[in-house]
Amino acid sequence: MALKRIKRIALLTSGGDAPGMNAAIRAVVRHGLYHNLEIMGIYNGYQGMIENHFELMDRQSVSNIIQRGGTILKSARSKYFKTDEGMEKAWNNLLEHNIDALVVIGGDGTFTGAKIFGEKYDFPIVGLPGTIDNDLYGTDLTIGYDTAVNTVVQAVDKIKDTASSHDRLFFVEVMGRDAGFIALNSGLAVGAHNILVPETRTYIDNLIRMLKHDWKMNKSSGIIIVAEGDDEGGAYEIAAKVKDKLPDYDTRVTILGHIQRGGAPSANDRILASLLGYDAVSTLLNGNRGVMVGMVNNKIAYTPFSQSIKYHNEINRNLLEIARLLSL
Ligand code: F6P
Repeated sequence: MALKRIKRIALLTSGGDAPGMNAAIRAVVRHGLYHNLEIMGIYNGYQGMIENHFELMDRQSVSNIIQRGGTILKSARSKYFKTDEGMEKAWNNLLEHNIDALVVIGGDGTFTGAKIFGEKYDFPIVGLPGTIDNDLYGTDLTIGYDTAVNTVVQAVDKIKDTASSHDRLFFVEVMGRDAGFIALNSGLAVGAHNILVPETRTYIDNLIRMLKHDWKMNKSSGIIIVAEGDDEGGAYEIAAKVKDKLPDYDTRVTILGHIQRGGAPSANDRILASLLGYDAVSTLLNGNRGVMVGMVNNKIAYTPFSQSIKYHNEINRNLLEIARLLSL
């Protein structure tokens, strides 16, 4: 069957917002316009596709957004899109607007939706990896991750001033429900004493033994980075378990929360988003579909949605030990 010529592309952001999503939107719109395509923005992710929230975009609609965090198209996690009825409504709206292809920016939930929808209606969709978690298979880095790590580093540098002035042990909780990338690399960058991630089992007794040993070696303050998805609980729970066994330690807890998702994207995130957004348009015009566009070893790489959903990038566990060794 001959491929339908693409004249109109729709674009949405879905799942948790990530710094650099706007730079990706800008790149898709500007590159599409360069090829005389029409680009329609869909507001609120898949939910907006169901609710018919479409708007034609032009050069002006993406001017001055490359440096802005969040997403001008807004984002949502739609439960309704997981149902046949929701998908059918979304499909009818795509038909109504004469959309020939779709670009989705988000994480694995976004790509799961894209895979099911694309196969069900035999429709061309490509995805761009937008999540601060950096856990998507098929790209070395996701859009937003670099900014999030830098945000954590800036915050923890400030916390360290108090930690050392007061000889305190701080437990700092960072995002990453299922992935320890933010914890691991921000931990290395701030010289954290311990880094607790969802990928490895945390043993409180071991942690306490280490702390006792290290404090005997003249350590008087420290930072423990806790990924929110750690199996022993969040930073408050872990701090309480430690305090119970080491009542003399002056402990404090900081939860960094959503500051990690906001703010101006770093230069690296803007560059990554621009290159991936640019390529999303080229690859659709070349007839590619059902793939996530990523960057592997500085080269554009296409990974079928089925794989980017099935697999996850793995953290390098050796770095946990290296971080501790370097903190002593
Ligand atoms: O997936 C990105 C992420 O920021 C995770 O690190 C975090 O667990 C989750 O989103 C938080 O989501 P919400 O903003 O919906 O609470």
